[in-house]
Amino acid sequence: MTDTDSSGVAAEAETQDEYGASAASARNVFEARALNVFYGDFRAVRDVDLDIREHEITAFIGPSGCGKTTLLRCFNRMNDLIPSARVEGSLRYHDVDLYDEGVDSVEVRRRIGMVFQKPNPFPKSIYDNVAYGPRVAGRAKKKSDTDDIVERSLRRAALWDEVKDRLNTSALGMSGGQQQRLCIARAVAVDPDVLLMDEPCSALDPIATARIEELMQEIKDEYTIVIVTHNMQQAARTSDRTAFFSVEVSETSDTRTGIMVEMNPTEKVFSSPDDERTEQYVTGRFG
Ligand SMILES: Nc1ncnc2c1ncn2[C@@H]1O[C@H](COP(=O)(O)OP(=O)(O)OP(=O)(O)O)[C@@H](O)[C@H]1O
Ligand SMILES: [Mg+2]
Repeated sequence: MTDTDSSGVAAEAETQDEYGASAASARNVFEARALNVFYGDFRAVRDVDLDIREHEITAFIGPSGCGKTTLLRCFNRMNDLIPSARVEGSLRYHDVDLYDEGVDSVEVRRRIGMVFQKPNPFPKSIYDNVAYGPRVAGRAKKKSDTDDIVERSLRRAALWDEVKDRLNTSALGMSGGQQQRLCIARAVAVDPDVLLMDEPCSALDPIATARIEELMQEIKDEYTIVIVTHNMQQAARTSDRTAFFSVEVSETSDTRTGIMVEMNPTEKVFSSPDDERTEQYVTGRFG
């Protein structure tokens, strides 16, 4: 609850920071504390503390190999699928620790959807791609329910008008940008809370990229989005908050570890970052 002053104006308004990001209204969807990720003995990500706020778009930027994908995969336990991967520290998702025993990783992946760098539709019809998840989850028993979910999801992904007359044709016959929007439709069809996007536009042309960016703005009221991107303009255009990661090379042991250098409102990261390494990176003088 927010306090209300005598004029009835919610105190929340006062807590907007100078970059317009509101502090009070936002709940944290994720809270990572001292999060470390290992592949065998190799520590890929070290001691990350960060919060992801509800209904914001958070961008992860940083040079290749700094652990952006590794960290993103923690948020829906995709790292469970990599035998050598191990996560230490705590990662809270709302009120639960995602890595607690008893947390169902299948349910985690339903609530926290993922869109990958390369569009990866199933070799099935457009309709079946979107219907697959709801069917598996037992949410689409009747044909009319499935039809509704498919239409709603394709509309949310701004794809309905382009494909409504060819729903039963193969998804593999779509353009790359359409396939990526189909993957977004497939992710939203199971009614997730969070969308994780790992360089979702890197295989797309500027027009398809702009379409995905517009789409992100349209759906951010319903979802919390975390996007990894190498494209500085994309991070600046789309995100509310940006986390910059870097690779730290140990002087003694020659090991390379990903660390989070800073996380701030995007406007600040790109105009007056706290850390010199961030400034060097965003101005193109490093990495
Ligand atoms: N499955 C894996 N097994 C072993 N090491 C891995 C694995 N996946 C990633 N790594 C290592 O972990 C480190 C971080 O990799 P990650 O893919 O998370 O980086 P990234 O920031 O996403 O890079 P890019 O921008 O190139 O996608 C790298 O040193 C990488 O070689
Ligand atoms: Mg990556």
